[in-house]
Amino acid sequence: MCGIVAYVGSKQCANLMLEGLKRLEYRGYDSAGIATIDQGKITVVKTVGRVANLEDKLEQVGGIRGSIGMCHTRWATHGGVTDPNAHPHTDDKSGICLIHNGIIENYVALKTYLEEKGHKFKSQTDTEVLAMLIGELYDGDLEAAVQAALREVTGAYGIVVMCEKEPDTLVAARKGSPLMVGVGDGEFVIASDGSAIIAHTSHAFTLEDYQVVKVTPKGFRTSTIHNVPVTPKVQQLEIELEQIELGSFSHFMQKEIFEQPKALRNTLRGRTDAREGKIVLGGVSNFAKQLTATRRIVLTGQGTALHAATIGEYLIEDLARIYSVAEYGSEFRYRNPIIEENTLVIAVSQSGETADTLAALIEAKERGALALGVVNVVGSSIARETDAGVYLRVGPEIGVASTKAFTGQVAVLTLLGLYLARRRHMSGDECSDLIRELEQIPDKMERILEHDAKVRKVTEKYVDRENWLFLGRGYNYPTALEGALKLKEISYIHAEGMPAAEMKHGPIALINDGMPAVFIANKGRQYEKVISNIQEVKSRGGRIIAVATEGDEHIKKMADDVFYIPDVPECLSPMLAVVPLQLMAYHAAVIRGHDVDKPRNLAKSVTVE
Ligand code: G6P
Repeated sequence: MCGIVAYVGSKQCANLMLEGLKRLEYRGYDSAGIATIDQGKITVVKTVGRVANLEDKLEQVGGIRGSIGMCHTRWATHGGVTDPNAHPHTDDKSGICLIHNGIIENYVALKTYLEEKGHKFKSQTDTEVLAMLIGELYDGDLEAAVQAALREVTGAYGIVVMCEKEPDTLVAARKGSPLMVGVGDGEFVIASDGSAIIAHTSHAFTLEDYQVVKVTPKGFRTSTIHNVPVTPKVQQLEIELEQIELGSFSHFMQKEIFEQPKALRNTLRGRTDAREGKIVLGGVSNFAKQLTATRRIVLTGQGTALHAATIGEYLIEDLARIYSVAEYGSEFRYRNPIIEENTLVIAVSQSGETADTLAALIEAKERGALALGVVNVVGSSIARETDAGVYLRVGPEIGVASTKAFTGQVAVLTLLGLYLARRRHMSGDECSDLIRELEQIPDKMERILEHDAKVRKVTEKYVDRENWLFLGRGYNYPTALEGALKLKEISYIHAEGMPAAEMKHGPIALINDGMPAVFIANKGRQYEKVISNIQEVKSRGGRIIAVATEGDEHIKKMADDVFYIPDVPECLSPMLAVVPLQLMAYHAAVIRGHDVDKPRNLAKSVTVE
């Protein structure tokens, strides 16, 4: 969504805020803006485009000065991508300046009220309405004005506000959109996430919903929007600078694809006991009894996380023999879902902030479900809203196209599947065997990554084709969905993923001479059937790219190109089969000259419904 960085302290803050903003660019990148207060006056500079465009514009105007300020990257919701719609927004009465992440849902009514009072608006945004409202209510106390305004607002917000009349004060507040406050020595950095804070201080706290913080160089005060004081928990940030820097890689997506073996080792560490045939999940241990009694599981997420959830559906049903279903959070929430006794909801999310997933989770909880989170970002909204959970531990994911979070999510869902299976019917020996196989996945992934150059070569052959199919069955049907999503997200090639059997019920009409069809055709229960589907495509002129099990020579006779993956039990194969698909999408985007880490129109964390 949008990225927020604000600073108050003794340093000139423009450049240090912009450094932080670049780290948050993954959250949105259609416009950027900055404001500071210097000698009691607010200066705002904003522009459409990236943070780099903002830097150019700042250079043209000779830079801006001040040791208090705020900056923002936008992912447009209300109002087009224009300079006036970019943040920060100011009011026309009290010297207010504001940045915002989220959506003010009742902005139309508030705008009418403010227009009747004579305020003139310069943008089409909901954010400007909030700036005007705070200005209207301002009576010499910025904190009080923000609290009062927020009591009138419905919707989601992470905001930072400053005022010319209180030139050493920042006020920030949150409902639904994440905001952290980094606590330094006589200086404070407020940001959407810790990656923009860590270069300045490793101490920070997260604002909770409906909380407001007033920050000056001397200290901070936290309260609710009803002005009830609260004491936040200042904690050590668990990010290292190296994790959020590119190092020797060309793009974060590439770095994150190659990081997967290491990331998975972290995911699994301390959670498997192959000798005892046991899974140890500290985050859910208090709910062990309830989990054993589960009769139905709803896994929910959006995008890549939903694909991981769908693999989870297959895994849990297969291993633990519990009726499971994966659903888009956005659909689940609004269709009056049935939650029976002993229903477990598992929310799957990298960011832990996706509004659709969060809303589904809250709905399920209200109807009595036990809620687990499979989340990467520690302390995120979903992590806090769930009763219990298992963190991915794959480290910060910065590339907008999710890769290591996907394999981490599948790994955690595998652990959960085994955990539930073991508490129900699976024997210790069977569990031990699967754990040993699971523990070898990172090494086997490394073997696949060694063939990166070959994947690039194969991609070059097909990269000009505008329509692709991705087909798989069983456990690898969701892998096909994920392969198609990766390709379309970053290379803007039209790709459809579907169960291989479904192709003949309509999509087969699309196949023409030379159309690439990617088949996940590893050894498994439905191997022969997938081979038949390959023949059906081939005989209609399609070009076959197959992901197959090492040693399968037979497939070479049918496929134009083959990517081999090591042999593993079928239920573990998606974590390997997805890797060549991730690499292929990456190379396709690079060859076509796209901005891999910031694909057009996308945002990494979508905090609006
Ligand atoms: C956005 C991103 C996708 C991501 C989805 C869910 O749409 O562009 O890459 O898969 O959100 O994100 P989450 O943080 O919940 O996993």
